[in-house]
Amino acid sequence: MNEKALTFAVIGCGGRGHCYANCMLHEDPDIYKITSACDINPDRLEYSRNRWNLEKDQCFTDENEFFKEKRAELLVIGTQDRDHVRQAIKALELGYHLLLEKPISPVKEELYALLEAQKKYNKIVLVCHVLRYSPPFIKIKELIESGAIGELRLIESLEQVAFWHQAHSFVRGNWRREEDTSPMIMQKCCHDMDLLQYYAGAKCKTVYSVGDLSYFNAAHKPEGAADNCSKCKYEHTCPYSAEYGYITRWKEKGSPENLWPFNVITRDYPLTEEKLRYAYANGPYGRCVFACDNDVVDNQQVLMTFENGVKVSHTMTAFTHGSGRLMTFHGTLGEIQFDSEGEKPIKLLVFGKEPEEFTMNELAHDAAGFGHGGGDYFLCKQLYDMIKCGAPANTTLDASVESHLMALAAEESRKSGKPVEIIHK
Ligand SMILES: NC(=O)c1ccc[n+]([C@@H]2O[C@H](COP(=O)([O-])OP(=O)(O)OC[C@H]3O[C@@H](n4cnc5c(N)ncnc54)[C@H](O)[C@@H]3O)[C@@H](O)[C@H]2O)c1
Repeated sequence: MNEKALTFAVIGCGGRGHCYANCMLHEDPDIYKITSACDINPDRLEYSRNRWNLEKDQCFTDENEFFKEKRAELLVIGTQDRDHVRQAIKALELGYHLLLEKPISPVKEELYALLEAQKKYNKIVLVCHVLRYSPPFIKIKELIESGAIGELRLIESLEQVAFWHQAHSFVRGNWRREEDTSPMIMQKCCHDMDLLQYYAGAKCKTVYSVGDLSYFNAAHKPEGAADNCSKCKYEHTCPYSAEYGYITRWKEKGSPENLWPFNVITRDYPLTEEKLRYAYANGPYGRCVFACDNDVVDNQQVLMTFENGVKVSHTMTAFTHGSGRLMTFHGTLGEIQFDSEGEKPIKLLVFGKEPEEFTMNELAHDAAGFGHGGGDYFLCKQLYDMIKCGAPANTTLDASVESHLMALAAEESRKSGKPVEIIHK
């Protein structure tokens, strides 16, 4: 093996596990060497084994077997929200560095337990706040710090979930129930919370939030609708129907053989219309969005004040046509407008001067095709330098925990109807 190679293993070989493995192996399979995989689902494990050219004895369906010994320098943890800390602490005890999916955990005590373990074992724990590595998001920070808009006073932020994404992930899918995974404001907005504290340049002090599950419930089920879209008279007209989500949208994307979110409803690749129709007619992703067991919110707003006086309003809503983030940064001398999906995502408006725009090409030239505006790819690239060359990270586990405390405070406020002050340890 190349002596410069970074060995890594993956636990949780689903969408995110594959995403990071792909980024690393795309960069250079001699430099990033995958040595082991673990997934409780034998079919996913077998698919991953073939894709990553692993031997049978390098693959595990039981995490206890997997954690019997250290199998690489780095462990990628891509399991579900409630598994992360248990597995991260076992891995730290074995001496792994970690690339840990977000959210770390929706349980405050677990956040502190991980911080303690990381300090005890002194290993890198990089939480996948991928937007910290995405060039347009980094550019915004540079502009704020350059003083171009004077002193930052206020941030407005909108997380557009998109109507079809809400139906897929948060009504029918994995993240529909808080007790199984995490509250929506943590699941969908923990990147936003992280970015907002990064841009504000201080710790969050108080949080007030409102929000509810306003639409995806039995009260809004249309007259005579069936419990499965494949049998429903509204199948061709309901914007939330599985036919729209998994057939119309799949065709609009050029009928790809293997692409999220279509590859979540069946892993029988290459995808075809017949396989997709069969999957939703016979599985959870064909359920009527008004007859599921979901309980996470479909809209939420959060007002935050930071220790340096910066004020932030953040809105997350299912009811948007497209996805992505819209943000405006108001400073004493100007404004920055940001549209994460725009051709020219950043507009700098210094008061009294001509506007200046920044295109994606200038910002993310060699990350085209990788998720999160190139963040997935750049994060993996930086991980190598951190582990092998001692390079600094773009963020710390302490900062990641801080963003989770903001999300937890927002949820506490939403439920209690009262503002919550964040107590920093
Ligand atoms: N960073 C981001 O922007 C981002 C985006 C999407 C999802 N996520 C997070 O990534 C994580 C995974 O999401 P996903 O979309 O890849 O889900 P997924 O369901 O596609 O993958 C999870 C995998 O973990 C496996 N698994 C479950 N329990 C296990 C266990 N005990 N041991 C081993 N394997 C186990 C499942 O079989 C599955 O293959 C979640 O925590 C999610 O919140 C992060």
